Amino acid sequence: MGGKMQRQCVSWAFSVGLFLMVSVGKCETGKEEVSAAKSLVWGPGLRADVVLPVRYFYIQAVTHTEENVTYSPGSNTFNVVIKVLSSREHVRRYVPAPLDRNDGTFLMRYRLYGTASEGLKIEIFHQGQHVGQSPYILKGPVYHEYCYCPEVEPQIWKDTGSCPAEEEQISRDFINFPSIDLSLLLEEVPNRFGDRGIVHYTILNNQIYRRTMGRYTDFKMFSDEMLLSLARKVRLPDVEFYVNVGDWPLETRQMKDNPLPIISWCGSEDTTDIVLPTYDITRSTLETLRGVTNDLLSIQGQTGPAWENKTEQAFWRGRDSREERLKLVRISKEHPDLLDAGITAYFFFREEEKELGKAQLISFFDFFKYKYQVNVDGTVAAYRFPYLMLGDSLVMKQDSKYYEHFYRSLKPWKHYVPLKRDMSDVIEKIKWVKDNDAEAQKIARSGQALARDLLQPSSLYCYYFIVLQEYAKRQTTKPEIRNGMEHVLQPTDNESFCNCKRIANIKEEL
Ligand SMILES: *[C@@H]1O[C@H](CO)[C@@H](O)[C@H](O)[C@H]1NC(C)=O
Ligand SMILES: *[C@@H]1O[C@H](CO)[C@@H](O)[C@H](O)[C@H]1NC(C)=O
Ligand SMILES: *[C@@H]1O[C@H](CO)[C@@H](O)[C@H](O)[C@H]1NC(C)=O
Repeated sequence: MGGKMQRQCVSWAFSVGLFLMVSVGKCETGKEEVSAAKSLVWGPGLRADVVLPVRYFYIQAVTHTEENVTYSPGSNTFNVVIKVLSSREHVRRYVPAPLDRNDGTFLMRYRLYGTASEGLKIEIFHQGQHVGQSPYILKGPVYHEYCYCPEVEPQIWKDTGSCPAEEEQISRDFINFPSIDLSLLLEEVPNRFGDRGIVHYTILNNQIYRRTMGRYTDFKMFSDEMLLSLARKVRLPDVEFYVNVGDWPLETRQMKDNPLPIISWCGSEDTTDIVLPTYDITRSTLETLRGVTNDLLSIQGQTGPAWENKTEQAFWRGRDSREERLKLVRISKEHPDLLDAGITAYFFFREEEKELGKAQLISFFDFFKYKYQVNVDGTVAAYRFPYLMLGDSLVMKQDSKYYEHFYRSLKPWKHYVPLKRDMSDVIEKIKWVKDNDAEAQKIARSGQALARDLLQPSSLYCYYFIVLQEYAKRQTTKPEIRNGMEHVLQPTDNESFCNCKRIANIKEEL
């Protein structure tokens, strides 16, 4: 334990040292090139009415000659100051420095712990000069994440958050369920899936009730928290549904056999479950800047060396949860110059350890020292895939029947390089990407750009909400609070100021 701690400290100190060196060096060139006035700033964090756990926006460095900077102009190129407009208000807030995404863009995040009723002033500087249209004034109230203040008009909320009119995955998932009879589900779901981890929810008047079935339902904490968070932002439809919190999708019946509309974190070609963003993505979205290190925003500033400085090898580390993972390690032993793959923990195939050996655990951020990342399924879809896509390495993805909510938008050869299920083409494909470096980098970049868009917090809130809306539309009977359900309460946040105007207005109308 002590030894491990020490090693971490050493490498942390080392990387900070390196970081300062690089940024000082780069800053010199940045000085002449970046134009404060011409640089671009955009994103939901500049709008008062987009309430998210962590608000965020983007800065693109642009030169005096109006060209986008495409490399890091130095991590301290921009600094951001967020002030509360009213001098009488004290709103606790967490405002880390902008994240340098190493491609001329920066991701700025901030978390509010109280509501700024008059509003916020966001100032962005480059060497003392205002950037873009800075200062940005967010006219209050600017609510914080824990303020219960639902917008009663769903369409207003969706427009504010730029939700898409349609999500192809959601539309396809619901083709199997033209109508949903809740009284039928009440009998059938416990019979068929009661021994799996199922959380049965009813939402009535924007209040959440639930009961659990089966033993392994701890992960309800993620679905609970997401539903509570959504309910604070927008009034949810009255709806009654079943979330499968286990790994595997459950419903193997096809449409002709009357499948049940089970909602799962992961989908597969053999099942008809309706998918939601995985618990991991959900947790990441809720917990950003609350202490988790691997979240979908912070990873964007941790993508390792620039493309030309990455090691030209394919890389993989992980547990032994699937046969093809062992196969990949065997191939790696035959082609160590092309592929560095290793099992870090054995559980399913312990007898293989003697032959294949155990690889050292390595920090996820260090994966991005390698140019090509292999993605192989675990028990189901590998939940690291979103994080790999957000890096600037090229992702080589195993063909798989499993999918997460956003896979449908990704196209092979455009956003990633496909690999055969049995890994038989992995060496051939690695040789191809090495021989076609410009094309490989282009695929890596377009995959990253799409992942940044699809996996941003505002998109995930939209996705959850649209699933609930589509489900609610199809109910043929009324949702009810069933026997054994408990009320899932909003967290008490009486220490900070909320003062929801919308609720005050509703009360006045009554
Ligand atoms: C410059 O960057 C912005 C934001 O990333 C992008 O919208 C725009 O299309 C880029 N312009 C050019 C000329 O590439
Ligand atoms: C690549 O690494 C070299 C040596 O550390 C460094 O001088 C160079 O700036 C790096 N290239 C990029 C694009 O960061
Ligand atoms: C906030 O509410 C909690 C639980 O209801 C209570 O224990 C606490 O004393 C309250 N704090 C304030 C400042 O009112």
